[in-house]
Amino acid sequence: MPTKEDFHSFLRTRRSIRRFKTDPVPDSVLRDILHTATFAPSAHNRQPWRFIVVTDAAQSVKEKLANAMAVEFQRDLEKDNLPPDEITKRVNKSLERITSAPVVIILCVDMSEMDEYPDTHRKKAEYIIATQSTANAGMQVLLAAHAEGLGGVWVCSPMFAQEIVQEALEIPKTWEPQAMFLLGYPVEIPAVRGRKSIEEVMRWSQTSPDV
Ligand SMILES: Cc1cc2nc3c(=O)[nH]c(=O)nc-3n(C[C@H](O)[C@H](O)[C@H](O)COP(=O)(O)O)c2cc1C
Repeated sequence: MPTKEDFHSFLRTRRSIRRFKTDPVPDSVLRDILHTATFAPSAHNRQPWRFIVVTDAAQSVKEKLANAMAVEFQRDLEKDNLPPDEITKRVNKSLERITSAPVVIILCVDMSEMDEYPDTHRKKAEYIIATQSTANAGMQVLLAAHAEGLGGVWVCSPMFAQEIVQEALEIPKTWEPQAMFLLGYPVEIPAVRGRKSIEEVMRWSQTSPDV
């Protein structure tokens, strides 16, 4: 077993990796990563996470996904009234990032086995706890990839193009895309990005209002 110092160090040395070597990632490694992801905690242990894995073996599917998402991205940027050359630059960058990543994983949430409620308040809470559970599995994907010497980045764009991703990958309607992971062997390990100090983000609760 790793020591606690090793484990803290492991957690603190994960980085978002956005540039990858072209080396393929063995399917067995991807299976292990996703298997580890399924050990994440989930509300009522319903395990609402679902994963679609697209590797270089299905490059045409990756391209179909990237192209479909690019159309939607372009539409959104046009709504923001960005200059055309800036739009082209951003859309091409997004296309290039997806098609050049050796592995693309779409993380989905499936509400089918979650509790059903008649009222909006509890419906919303149940949806949030399902997406929280799904995000836990997502974090485990990144950590398990880190353990395998792979790098990865969490990309939120599927949230802005859920139906487009579903159609491009022929995903069941109940699998709602939440995020995309780009994975591969890292070209470089970037420096740690700035973190808020622990004092800024935590406080001890007071035992009495006078303390
Ligand atoms: C919910 C979520 C959405 C993110 N979306 C994107 C994204 O769309 N594109 C991107 O390059 N990075 C994205 N990131 C990665 C963050 O930019 C990154 O985690 C943060 O800058 C800290 O860097 P680090 O992961 O290397 O510690 C996302 C991370 C999270 C948790």
